[in-house]
Amino acid sequence: MRLSKTIRQQYTQHEMRSYGRKNGFVTAGQEARLRRWLPIVGLPRERKLSEAGLDIQAPWVMEIGFGNGDFLVHLAKSHPDWRLIGVEVYLPGVAKAVARLEDAGVIERVRISQLPAQFVLAEQVEPGQLAGIYINHPDPWPKKRHHKRRLIQKDFAALMVSRLREGGFIKLASDKPDLAEWMRDILDATPGLVNMAGADGFVPREPERPWTKFELRGLREGRPSQFLHYIKRAA
Ligand SMILES: C[S@@+](CC[C@H](N)C(=O)[O-])C[C@H]1O[C@@H](n2cnc3c(N)ncnc32)[C@H](O)[C@@H]1O
Repeated sequence: MRLSKTIRQQYTQHEMRSYGRKNGFVTAGQEARLRRWLPIVGLPRERKLSEAGLDIQAPWVMEIGFGNGDFLVHLAKSHPDWRLIGVEVYLPGVAKAVARLEDAGVIERVRISQLPAQFVLAEQVEPGQLAGIYINHPDPWPKKRHHKRRLIQKDFAALMVSRLREGGFIKLASDKPDLAEWMRDILDATPGLVNMAGADGFVPREPERPWTKFELRGLREGRPSQFLHYIKRAA
């Protein structure tokens, strides 16, 4: 990895604790794009989202764990009025997403962070700032002793709610029934959130959604995804 020390210190995580893979193979071409774009669209760790150089009044929507960036590109293309903050701890994923966003001609409406979503939400996003949060197929951590590594936890749910404006949404997807129910049970019990679904708590798939890598994998293996949709109610 030939990213300069300054870029690594400001834009990549090397010492923060988070579960799952962070580093991996980045091609020379991807690295060149990271060197070009991170100083423009990366959110440096000491800066707030409101200082990211984009319209602060626009609706800001976050995608957590964007993987290779396909869904983030879809959001940027289908919502030109939104400003997006994509958060992904896996550097090769960040590199792929930067390339896809550039190729789609939408990268300048997006800000990118490789820091853990817990840090970005707590330190860089202000209360009530977000219009929405998407989380697609978070890591399942199936073993019981690893459940504490799952992204959706009671405190994290409360943190997300605090960063949403009134009427803001949280939308989640998972192809793992056990994880989908875990997320539903935590979010249903989180003060301030209303589940927009019927009896079982899950909403139908939105037809305009693009198919992400993990949704397709689940389908191939006989696990159609389940979807959750919450709104932050007025206080
Ligand atoms: C199973 S993948 C899903 C990728 C993509 N959303 C999809 O549906 O294809 C989960 C992603 O979440 C990322 N992730 C895990 N913990 C995270 C955290 N604390 N902050 C940001 N991203 C995280 C992982 O690196 C991984 O790329």
